[in-house]
Amino acid sequence: MSDLAMLGGSPVISYRLPTVNDSTGRTFGAEELQELREVIESGRLGFICGTKIKELQNLWAADHGVETAICVSSGTAALHTAINFLNLGREDEVLVPAITDMGTVLGVMLQGAVPVFVDVDPITQNMDPDDIERHITPRTKAIMPVHLYGYPCDMDRIMPIARAHGLYVVEDCAQAHTTRYKGRLVGTFGDVACYSFQQSKHMTTGDGGMVMAKKDCLCGRKLIHCQDKAWPRELYRDHLFLAPNYHFTDLQAAVGLAQYRKLEQLVEGRRTSALHLSHLLQDLPGTYPQGDTQMGTHTFFEYDLPLDMEQFSVDNKVLADALKAEGVPCSPSYLPKPIYMYDVVAKAYPVTLNMCPNAVKACASMLYIPWTEKHTLQHAEDLSKAIHKVLSYYHR
Ligand SMILES: Cc1ncc(COP(=O)(O)O)c(C=O)c1O
Repeated sequence: MSDLAMLGGSPVISYRLPTVNDSTGRTFGAEELQELREVIESGRLGFICGTKIKELQNLWAADHGVETAICVSSGTAALHTAINFLNLGREDEVLVPAITDMGTVLGVMLQGAVPVFVDVDPITQNMDPDDIERHITPRTKAIMPVHLYGYPCDMDRIMPIARAHGLYVVEDCAQAHTTRYKGRLVGTFGDVACYSFQQSKHMTTGDGGMVMAKKDCLCGRKLIHCQDKAWPRELYRDHLFLAPNYHFTDLQAAVGLAQYRKLEQLVEGRRTSALHLSHLLQDLPGTYPQGDTQMGTHTFFEYDLPLDMEQFSVDNKVLADALKAEGVPCSPSYLPKPIYMYDVVAKAYPVTLNMCPNAVKACASMLYIPWTEKHTLQHAEDLSKAIHKVLSYYHR
């Protein structure tokens, strides 16, 4: 087979696939418009006076069985708020996975605490519980499991480790809305959980996020104060400690409420097509198609396809380029390198290239395909054809 589009052949896909960046891949309609209209007509747009914000927060807290949930301006803001809420700072060590968004690490760094990078499972790229244990010191205060790509971390291993060592658990659910671990929603295991509503997420308000805590006033801090200048507005004008303004607006909450009400349906849209693609790829040599397992459900923030690179004659960058030529918008990996190798982190903390060997290898051993709730079974079939064509061509 020498008809690869990259080598002059015809591409498998000659139309544009849906994208989260516009209405082809997003579901906004009458419900969002109605909620927005009500906010505009009320004249109450801001965090303090908004009513939709309170409705969304109350619904979220009740659905997750937690004491408090607070809307914030981004997932990064949610994670920073969580670290401030737990009063983590100088000398405190926080265990984070080597593969994650910078937003997971930023809050730790901004509070002056030390991110300690833990290696990942080579296939799922979630935190490896054995490596968590290896990194615990007397200074360790918290673990931040990130449920990457929508697949859950092994919470039955992580929670006992945390409890045995008296550590807080902050779950980063930015990519894992409605993901379940052994039937239970992620976010409900740890002390605090954080979500992102940024444009590419399972539900979106353009930007935004949610931080929720099982118990408010952990470490003597109220969650709401940590994103509101630590201003006890209900009492007097003062600032109890250092905290930024990470307010969400009622306009965002209007869209958020409408999106949250249809979240399960949006996620099912992603899952149906992605699981079909995994089914179509199940016999393709050199690939590990992802999906539901006994451990949990996969909600496919994006379609991650781990590869056994020994079986291919080129690296994953060439595979991604060949797929792009076939009409598949894809990247070789989620991160080009583990997050601790980015200069902004590496300059602040002593890191070595091979600190987390699985993470280094995983970034070079996958394909990463954007996914949306509007991908159909037909899209999955076409994507499967393109992936079969490219991966078979380069298979040793
Ligand atoms: C795992 C993870 N954590 C945190 C964030 C930060 O969220 P935001 O972009 O809303 O600040 C993201 C966003 O992509 C993410 O994927």
